[in-house]
Amino acid sequence: MILITGGAGYIGSHTVINLLNQGYKIAVFDNLSTGHIETIDTLKDIGDIKFIQGDLCNIKDLENLFCNYDIQAVIHFAAFSLVEESCINPKKYYINNVMGTLNLLNTMLKYDVKKIVFSSTCATYGVPKILPLDENHPQNPINPYGNTKLTIERILKDYDKAYELKSIILRYFNVAGCDSLIRIGEWHVPETHLIPNILKSVTEKDKVFKIFGTDYDTKDGTCVRDYVNVEDLAEAHRLALEYLFKSNKSDIFNIGTENGNTVKEVFDICKEITNTNIKVEETQRRAGDPPSLYANAKKAKEILGWNPKKTLYDSIKTAWLWEKILFNNISKEEI
Ligand SMILES: NC(=O)c1ccc[n+]([C@@H]2O[C@H](COP(=O)([O-])OP(=O)(O)OC[C@H]3O[C@@H](n4cnc5c(N)ncnc54)[C@H](O)[C@@H]3O)[C@@H](O)[C@H]2O)c1
Repeated sequence: MILITGGAGYIGSHTVINLLNQGYKIAVFDNLSTGHIETIDTLKDIGDIKFIQGDLCNIKDLENLFCNYDIQAVIHFAAFSLVEESCINPKKYYINNVMGTLNLLNTMLKYDVKKIVFSSTCATYGVPKILPLDENHPQNPINPYGNTKLTIERILKDYDKAYELKSIILRYFNVAGCDSLIRIGEWHVPETHLIPNILKSVTEKDKVFKIFGTDYDTKDGTCVRDYVNVEDLAEAHRLALEYLFKSNKSDIFNIGTENGNTVKEVFDICKEITNTNIKVEETQRRAGDPPSLYANAKKAKEILGWNPKKTLYDSIKTAWLWEKILFNNISKEEI
């Protein structure tokens, strides 16, 4: 059985579907702090998953989990991931992300589970010195969220050396889109990501979409990011898991499309897909936003055999259908 921590959340739930489609048995462990019980209900309709409500910060919850289920490997998504909040309340992030992960790893060791795929982020690189970013780029995070993820990466390296706990670290870039059948999707509260925020400016009457900075040194002056589709990302997790089983070797991979898109380009696709003249306000730059971030993901393609298939257009299309179903009570038949 594969344990998925954070499987009630956005990326974790899409990975559950991918693994169910391949016949894996899944246990989802989640405290529902930012994940949703409705997502779990949908996953239970799709396949045979066990849901265990519990908290990584509670060692008894972890003990019960590992005691009651025969776990072969872990895919670890559970974390807090709001950059701004992490600057205001770093304690919350160090406790949940770092301490929670240490509890998980120590329980894994106790039960002799020695394989983990870990959700890291391009935020561990900080401000890029060279683009595209490859896995050897120096890591200098510029916020506590990125620091927590880099700390966990270092712990994983030490745990491999000392205890032979093998890990695949996936550093993802911006994640977008949802399940092709629109059964689950992105559902963060508050929502800080670009695409759902643009789409909410269509569905929420008084919301005006803000572009932070139009004077960057990029092709149209707005920030460039690399938007990887969530189903392609879920596939990367399955491939990483299978690579770990096959090779029993730790490794690190960037997961991105290798294409950068500006905020204005994303905005224009949203306008086209929603067929709406979305209200927009151009404002000052935000502190800490690098002008451009995009991946060199050749290593994942060569070693894991990862072959991302979805375009940014595909991601925005599914995100829009999901947004309509989730927040506007429109049934799947009506869209
Ligand atoms: N969304 C992105 O663009 C992005 C980019 C890079 C990395 N990541 C990383 O990917 C992972 C998943 O991100 P997401 O967008 O799906 O987030 P999410 O908030 O939707 O999912 C996280 C899940 O973890 C659960 N959780 C949090 N703390 C927990 C704890 N202590 N015990 C048990 N469950 C707990 C939450 O309830 C939630 O279901 C995170 O680790 C995040 O840092 C996300």
